[in-house]
Amino acid sequence: MAGQKERTHIREQEPEPAGFYENFLEYLKIIRDRTELPHVTKSSDVPWQVGRNGKSKYYSTPLKPDAVLPDRLVFRKTIEDRNGRHTHQGSLVILGLKGSGETLVDDVRHPWGPEDLIILPIKPGGIEHQHFNMRGPDDPAEWIAFIHVPYLEELGAELTQNEVYKEWQEKHSHMMSADNFEEYDDHYDLFLDFDYADWADYTPPETTNSLYDDLVVLRNNYRKMVAQAQGAGNWAVIRGEDLEYEINPQGKMKWYLHPSFEDRSMRSLLFYIQEIPPGSRSGKQHRQGGLVHYIMGGKGHTIIDGARYPDGPKRLEWEAEDYMAIPLSPEGCQFQHFNDDPENPAKIVVTEPSHGYELGWLDLGCGFEQLQNCPEYDALDDSEKSTAIYLIFQK
Ligand SMILES: [Fe+2]
Repeated sequence: MAGQKERTHIREQEPEPAGFYENFLEYLKIIRDRTELPHVTKSSDVPWQVGRNGKSKYYSTPLKPDAVLPDRLVFRKTIEDRNGRHTHQGSLVILGLKGSGETLVDDVRHPWGPEDLIILPIKPGGIEHQHFNMRGPDDPAEWIAFIHVPYLEELGAELTQNEVYKEWQEKHSHMMSADNFEEYDDHYDLFLDFDYADWADYTPPETTNSLYDDLVVLRNNYRKMVAQAQGAGNWAVIRGEDLEYEINPQGKMKWYLHPSFEDRSMRSLLFYIQEIPPGSRSGKQHRQGGLVHYIMGGKGHTIIDGARYPDGPKRLEWEAEDYMAIPLSPEGCQFQHFNDDPENPAKIVVTEPSHGYELGWLDLGCGFEQLQNCPEYDALDDSEKSTAIYLIFQK
């Protein structure tokens, strides 16, 4: 009896399980506390690793416990001969860094070089692709991929391997042979003949009879936009040398993907390269966060400040080949980049998911404001300056 009484006593002492709501509060706090993780990932801290699709260096992945933005998959790939070949849904971009490559997108090979942007568009049935080095193995081609993982998840998260990277196959033949992989296109009978080109001449009806019709028109307009991108030669590659730098309050930028473009095959990301002249600095912005940066060249630092930096502004040092993520926080943060090299420009790739009316464009939850201009913008003639900006902090 005594023993039984004791057991009852112990049971009474055990706390009730916290339950979902309490756990959820904890989960949201973990997300907010990511502002305390390191924002810069040094290239030298990330090893190259061989996988069944090629040789890669992973800066940020959903499986990396200390990733500031674990919803971003950011990795570099070096291609000595050819990568594996696989199929998955699009909505992601890859920037050429070195050498001379070609990428098979569906059935067509598209050449690319440094600063060319390879686009894998969204397409019913997915996009089969493979990357090739067009020079010898001593002169590998290299690129960096930027993937917003929630989009991959929302598009079904399927990935099938159609050909395995040779080096991995040799080491892991005991694990899985190439003909063991799932077939992707088996499931897409409905879209076997789907071709965006069929939509190039689509004209929306002048009137619609229902809100349902309006949705079909929106879908058709999207298909037409992708068809126009194909017609403009922007379907799979956007050439860096075709783009011009603009000087805006935040700095000198050339835009690859922007919501104003009507001739791109992808709208899910903003993507640009920012160049900071020797010894100069960017403007200063108040943003929600969620931007990722890859340093293509140069050496400098970023000052980040805001409610999540209680010890004052934080200095983030970076150099070529490093990766920097600006964390998300409810109050947002203020950041500004400085080129510490008085002789050479710094070049930074910047990308973030493109939010539309659904999330208030750049406002999101914390508001978007330009707090300070870059010096190159201030030096412009008034006629060349922004006609849109309204600086609330200058009142
Ligand atoms: Fe891929």
